[in-house]
Amino acid sequence: MELINSKTYSNLAKSFAGECQARVRYEFIEYGARKQGYKALAEVVDKVVYNEFNHARMFYTFIQQAGEKEIKNIDIDAGYPFKQKWDLLENFRLAAEDEKHEAELIYPEFARIAEEEGFKQIAALYNNIIQVETCHKALFTQLYNQMKDGTLYCRDEPIKWKCGDCGYEATSNCAWEICPLCKAKQGAVLLHLEDCFGC
Ligand SMILES: [Fe+2]
Ligand SMILES: [Fe+2]
Repeated sequence: MELINSKTYSNLAKSFAGECQARVRYEFIEYGARKQGYKALAEVVDKVVYNEFNHARMFYTFIQQAGEKEIKNIDIDAGYPFKQKWDLLENFRLAAEDEKHEAELIYPEFARIAEEEGFKQIAALYNNIIQVETCHKALFTQLYNQMKDGTLYCRDEPIKWKCGDCGYEATSNCAWEICPLCKAKQGAVLLHLEDCFGC
């Protein structure tokens, strides 16, 4: 089957659109985080922004390979989320929800169709991206929980905190308000994250 006549072709276009939108939604989150002084958090979210850019780039590359001539408009009929408002905490919850939907429903289905239509490399791309979106889901879930519980910068047990600006470290229950070394605000203190975004 020619890619251009396949369902996978349209799925690639839908996926490209979805990744571009996810990227912008996470830039909204990053923007909000920076405005509220969460510098280290914004930098973590910026890594997710760049991940989504690269997913979009890979989908786009496959679309480009579908024809020798210039690719014309691709008509797609798909729904995309527009739930996020300007509430940082709520946006983490919604982002985790969107990532789950992508990783557990949409992309597995697109991978199955690509496999069925004989596009093994594209199926593999979907499966590799599922791994990353699952990691994004875990990250946004952690950010949501930590911000909600107030554990982003305060723990029950002493823990090592590190300034992302100057590298100063100290062990205590809560991170400093102002870095003793460089005077950066608390938002510059690196976050404690598990799994794929752990340091
Ligand atoms: Fe993505
Ligand atoms: Fe993602």
